[in-house]
Amino acid sequence: MAWTSMDTFVDACRTAATSADPAEAVRAVMIEAVADPARVVADLPDFEGEDVVVAHDDAVAVYVVRQSPDTAGPPHDHRMTAVVGMIEGVEIHRLFRRQGERVAFDREARIGPGEVIVLGPDEVHAIANPDRHPSLGLHVYLGDIVTGERALWAPDGGEQQPFTVEAYDRYVTRYGG
Ligand SMILES: [Fe+2]
Repeated sequence: MAWTSMDTFVDACRTAATSADPAEAVRAVMIEAVADPARVVADLPDFEGEDVVVAHDDAVAVYVVRQSPDTAGPPHDHRMTAVVGMIEGVEIHRLFRRQGERVAFDREARIGPGEVIVLGPDEVHAIANPDRHPSLGLHVYLGDIVTGERALWAPDGGEQQPFTVEAYDRYVTRYGG
């Protein structure tokens, strides 16, 4: 279903999340939604800061994420499937392997407007924006990530710690180092 409105998108995600294969169904909704990225951008709510929670309940949480230019966030997990669709700029997803309580960098995926990435419940990733312009992505989680417990690691690894927004923000660095 091509993009019509944020409300329609959220409803479509909620319906997809109750299907037999929620990850694939939400991925399909996302692919169609971001196929015309400019249309989505034109329809976004005004918000300040890095992200806004558009909707969340037990089925899905929908965020708009604006990553500042030349920034890199710390590794973290979600403990539920995440489906990310890009609508403006670039998000680099650095993917990590778990090694006990620690994580080690494994590989990198780069997505641009119209592209979609799906992360499984156990995946650990860190997102970065390598460009000089803010990036915009739609992040859909198959559960209520707003209230769920999850984990965070310092940018250079180290012991797992509880995810908090404050800790996340403290670990944001320049992408260029
Ligand atoms: Fe994430």
